[in-house]
Amino acid sequence: MAASVGRICRAGLLKSPHVPTINQFSSLSTTREWTKGRKALLGTIGMLAGGAGALLLALDRSVRASDLELHPPKHVWSHSGMFSSLDHASVRRGYEVYKQVCAACHSMRFIAYRNLVGVTHTEEEAKAEAEEQMVLDGPNEQGEMFKRPGKLSDYFPSPYPNEEAARAANNGAYPPDLSYIVSARHGGEDYIFALLTGYCDAPAGVVLREGQYFNPYFPGGAISMAQALYNEAMEYTDGTPATASQLAKDISTFLKWTAEPEHDDRKKMLMKAIGIFSFLMAITYYIKRMKFSTLKTRKIEFRPKEK
Ligand code: HEC
Repeated sequence: MAASVGRICRAGLLKSPHVPTINQFSSLSTTREWTKGRKALLGTIGMLAGGAGALLLALDRSVRASDLELHPPKHVWSHSGMFSSLDHASVRRGYEVYKQVCAACHSMRFIAYRNLVGVTHTEEEAKAEAEEQMVLDGPNEQGEMFKRPGKLSDYFPSPYPNEEAARAANNGAYPPDLSYIVSARHGGEDYIFALLTGYCDAPAGVVLREGQYFNPYFPGGAISMAQALYNEAMEYTDGTPATASQLAKDISTFLKWTAEPEHDDRKKMLMKAIGIFSFLMAITYYIKRMKFSTLKTRKIEFRPKEK
């Protein structure tokens, strides 16, 4: 009985002249004071923007649906999970693959030897890696440039002095810088793995020009990079059997790291954020229940005025 009285009275309160009723809220809308022209203009802009977005999506879809391109299969990488770090032994092997195979044609301008420290190599090992190559430095006191052994602060050397030289050596095709290639291609590391292991004979009817090879994963199918990885193409220092797929897997993991060096820290941060925010959620819920407890448990009584 008391509960229904309370409900009736609260409903009565809502109807009091000082509180706007649901119908009156429409008078608070910001669009109310807009002129018809302005409404029409903004409506048109909205529709045009929506239309342009849909057109772009359709164009993108149609390009990707071209039948000469095979989509790379999705693999379960050891770093695929929400909380999984990169496999650092694999990243280290991938560095060996890059150095011994890919570095002949591809630069990696945004990775320095110091980046390897604590990720794949110890400081001494990284220093030794850097010292293996000669870097142009200077000018010295005579104003001349000179060569010195590499230091930790040096970036990976480029195989060609400039893009034109790279093109001249590769039949006019430019081997892209590999630092961020995983982020720069649809499919990421799955694409790199599929590309490196996907070479096959061109199907009948596909004409390849001089210096082109067939790879169904490369858009268009005709790629100017010859197959780079074969079984036993090189030897790993840790003794892992160097099959073509092992080499491809390790270089893909390495390229994932170069494209996202913050990968492990990011996932660690996610774990911390989940921990902290679940605590904050719980405490917020508790405080909300506490603050509302007086409102939720109050009893409103109706007492007619005594005459
Ligand atoms: C003999 C030189 C050579 C070697 C060695 C080489 N590449 Fe390439 N790579 C090229 C050229 C040239 C292109 C450009 C191909 C094109 O645009 O048709 C290319 C393109 C690529 C691309 C870009 C494909 C795309 O989608 O645009 C990737 C990724 C790549 N190479 C990875 C590698 C990796 C990883 C290695 C080492 C395992 C490697 N390459 C070894 C010459 C080479």
